[in-house]
Amino acid sequence: MKGKFISLEGGEGSGKTTAIHFIQKWLESHNIPYLMTREPGGTPLSEEIRQLILTPREETVNDVTELLLVFAARAQHLSEKIQPALEKGIWVISDRFLDSSYVYQGKARGGDFAMLDQLATWVVGDNKPDATLLLDISVELGQERVVQRQHQDRLDKESLSFHQKVRDGFLERANADPERIKIVDASLSLEAVQKQIEEQLLQLNNAWSGDV
Ligand SMILES: Nc1ncnc2c1ncn2[C@@H]1O[C@H](COP(=O)(O)OP(=O)(O)OP(=O)(O)O)[C@@H](O)[C@H]1O
Ligand SMILES: [Mg+2]
Repeated sequence: MKGKFISLEGGEGSGKTTAIHFIQKWLESHNIPYLMTREPGGTPLSEEIRQLILTPREETVNDVTELLLVFAARAQHLSEKIQPALEKGIWVISDRFLDSSYVYQGKARGGDFAMLDQLATWVVGDNKPDATLLLDISVELGQERVVQRQHQDRLDKESLSFHQKVRDGFLERANADPERIKIVDASLSLEAVQKQIEEQLLQLNNAWSGDV
């Protein structure tokens, strides 16, 4: 049986990376083989493209350039890492995936959704995540949680209104696709967030164990 593909989404400081470590422990305790990965990135070439996207630079980065770089990294990530793992029955957990493109390059940058749909069809096709956990948190609290960070990338440095569009964009996507995208209240304590994630994982695993 194919592995399951789960993505973690949410704005800066919403707790995606923290959640991934918790999910890793949960998968281990259930003896489920897994692979953790992230976007943009996930393979050596895709990680090089990630650096191109996130490095702060003098030159203005054209929105279409950013969009195409993200999808170029994703094409490589899917064909070289995600799909081979799923075929072997390995679960893949990705820190960000396609929804981030719709939210950052689409909603927050005012990108062309028709172009995004075309790229999504071309690059991702039917290989969408089986489930997505959206860590939802206010922009202010998210920023508070990452304020101690020394290093800020090109997207971290965006304005508050940009980050507000990111939050709204994720919630709109979750409301449009509630079957796949599960909202987690990420403003709560670590323990309470992990409890919600565990409940979601148990429900998903139960539903999937009925799959043929
Ligand atoms: N529920 C929580 N309560 C309090 N602090 C938390 C909680 N979850 C995560 N944190 C802390 O908030 C900070 C940001 O968390 P994390 O790095 O997991 O977010 P992220 O979504 O991966 O951020 P980024 O988008 O920048 O990668 C970390 O210092 C983490 O320890
Ligand atoms: Mg992170």
